[in-house]
Amino acid sequence: MDDAAFDAREAARAKAWSMPIEEIDVADPELFQNDTLWPYFERLRKEAPVHYQPVHEFGPYWSVTRYEDIMAVDTDHETFSSEPSITIADPKDDFRLPMFIAMDPPKHDVQRKTVSPIVAGPNLAHLEPIIRERAGAILDELPVGEDFDWVDKVSIELTTMTLATLFDFPWEDRRKLTRWSDVATAGPKSGLFSSEEAAEDERRAELYECVDYFMRLWNERVNAPPKNDLISMLAHGESTRNMDRMEYLGNLVLLIVGGNDTTRNSITGSVLALNQNPDQYALLRARRDLIPSMVSETIRWQTPLAHMRRNATRDVELGGKTIRKGEKVVMWYVSGNRDETVIEDPNRYWIERPNVRRHLSFGFGIHRCVGNRLAELQLKVIWEEILKRFPSIEVTGEPTRVYSSFVKGYERLPVRIPA
Ligand code: HEM
Repeated sequence: MDDAAFDAREAARAKAWSMPIEEIDVADPELFQNDTLWPYFERLRKEAPVHYQPVHEFGPYWSVTRYEDIMAVDTDHETFSSEPSITIADPKDDFRLPMFIAMDPPKHDVQRKTVSPIVAGPNLAHLEPIIRERAGAILDELPVGEDFDWVDKVSIELTTMTLATLFDFPWEDRRKLTRWSDVATAGPKSGLFSSEEAAEDERRAELYECVDYFMRLWNERVNAPPKNDLISMLAHGESTRNMDRMEYLGNLVLLIVGGNDTTRNSITGSVLALNQNPDQYALLRARRDLIPSMVSETIRWQTPLAHMRRNATRDVELGGKTIRKGEKVVMWYVSGNRDETVIEDPNRYWIERPNVRRHLSFGFGIHRCVGNRLAELQLKVIWEEILKRFPSIEVTGEPTRVYSSFVKGYERLPVRIPA
């Protein structure tokens, strides 16, 4: 960590523990961009584990920060609805994107069932050698002895290729998926648009381009026999074949973001975490059988989606507080994953951690991540291939983190492979 990053963290610690607790706003994206979120969550877990923030850009919300309380919310979908949105921002009335992650049963269940075979065991067995070959080819092309950006050259490349395969998407256009993934979750201050004022219009225009592109693929596939790709599954699925354009776009955004940013940021997070913990990197080199548990530990440590949000469907007691019907409830997975009462030494990155798959990063209950095994598979394969080739991947500077309290990840990570 450089001096500026160290000073910022020290200042955040002092502020987090001295400011009036009711003013803490953990959804502020700046805390995530500067990596200064931790002491705020530590204080909430300790002093106000179910905490009300009345003044936020997107309206008042409750924060749930302890592991067990998050589990209680996530596994009670009748009291805590996923409609109308699973992020802290409400959908805009003139741009609603229905998607099954933001639906309750019964519609959620049938749509989820339509796409889940793509990430089930038999298809993963089919995908593994394909992912391995690509991972090897990506690594073999990397420059040795000079700085490059790991996010762009490896994390984005591999996950975008996998996503293109899931959609059977035209190969040469696959970076469009990366762009749509970034645009879908980007706010006005993300830097992805020409200006803050123009951001929302530009975002919508790009997402309309996305759905137009995918509409062509739908039209090809709906008239052909069913195949093993996501578009064909949606076009032929009983519960999805009559979706209108916006619902098609909504579900595409879900599958693009779900399958892309999260895994990308876990791959980058693994390189960063192993560099920050050289003893763990050395252990991994000596014990490749630890790769699967390193993968789970990384996904806990990184928590690629910092939160999921719910809406209370009735008045309910949680952690001694009364949440009123209609209020927003934010489950901070990023905090539950550092809950010292459930996870031993939670700030330590520890690849031999007992019960290492016990984390909240994939959620729980009926919306638990459908793609979790595919995510783990990509991380496992890339690390098996890295360790075959390189003695180390050295981080050479501070990462650039994403400006978001939802997607917790990296824009850039400078690295070097020693000559
Ligand atoms: C490390 C990588 C990943 C993380 C951390 C992650 C995290 C999550 C989380 C937190 C949820 C919501 C859980 C809840 O509300 O209880 C979710 C749902 C979902 N994820 Fe993932 N995900 C990852 C990779 C993937 C991949 C590779 C796919 C691929 C296709 C995917 C597709 C989905 C879908 C479709 C849902 C909605 C499930 C539903 O509503 O029933 N995810 N994911």
